[in-house]
Amino acid sequence: MNGQPASTGVGLRPMTDADAAAVLAIYQAGLDGGDASFETVAPTWAAFDAGKLPGHRLVAVDGRAAGRGAGGGVLLGWVAVCPVSARPVYAGVVEHSVYVSPGARGRGVGRLLLAGLIASTEAAGIWTIQAGVFPENTASLAVHRAAGFRTVGVRERLGRHAARGDRWRDVVLIERRSPHAG
Ligand SMILES: CC(C)(COP(=O)(O)OP(=O)(O)OC[C@H]1O[C@@H](n2cnc3c(N)ncnc32)[C@H](O)[C@@H]1OP(=O)(O)O)[C@@H](O)C(=O)NCCC(=O)NCCS
Repeated sequence: MNGQPASTGVGLRPMTDADAAAVLAIYQAGLDGGDASFETVAPTWAAFDAGKLPGHRLVAVDGRAAGRGAGGGVLLGWVAVCPVSARPVYAGVVEHSVYVSPGARGRGVGRLLLAGLIASTEAAGIWTIQAGVFPENTASLAVHRAAGFRTVGVRERLGRHAARGDRWRDVVLIERRSPHAG
């Protein structure tokens, strides 16, 4: 565990391959809600693993149920990042995803995951974390605002969402800029 408890017994640890099934199940549950992403189906573990930077993958676990999940504890949520570009000038800019199991939301798990991600990326010299959030995803906007993210702007009708009647949807671009860089 390397995070502060969100509620009694909850902590963070690095994600491992053994977490794959639980991570993807939480991912799919978030997608099923319809306001987390344009995606409708969680990727395979191979695709997830290939796309996410290995050094900044964390899971939140309920330590009170230790032993029931990979590495101990039931998985409550996860956070991971991918690079936004292969260009060296953007080496310190990442885009993150954060997903909390439906039954564990509203307990500070998302806040804990974002705090862990920020600590991890700060330690690695990453200067910007960004994400696109649907305006309707008020929980995500709130938890990110509380974690120090700001709204850059609203990208209007950025993509068509198959899971929401194939309609065009706006995306709020948010970012957290490291106070220690540039
Ligand atoms: C967005 C998400 C990660 C938030 O995680 P969470 O564990 O429920 O959030 P937390 O309990 O840590 O909440 C932290 C803060 O966010 C705000 N917040 C959380 N849920 C909220 C809600 N439904 N409405 C309004 N504010 C909310 C509160 O300010 C809260 O602070 P408080 O506890 O002091 O009141 C979670 O709802 C989720 O997994 N959603 C589905 C997937 C998704 O949308 N991911 C983000 C894609 S951009």
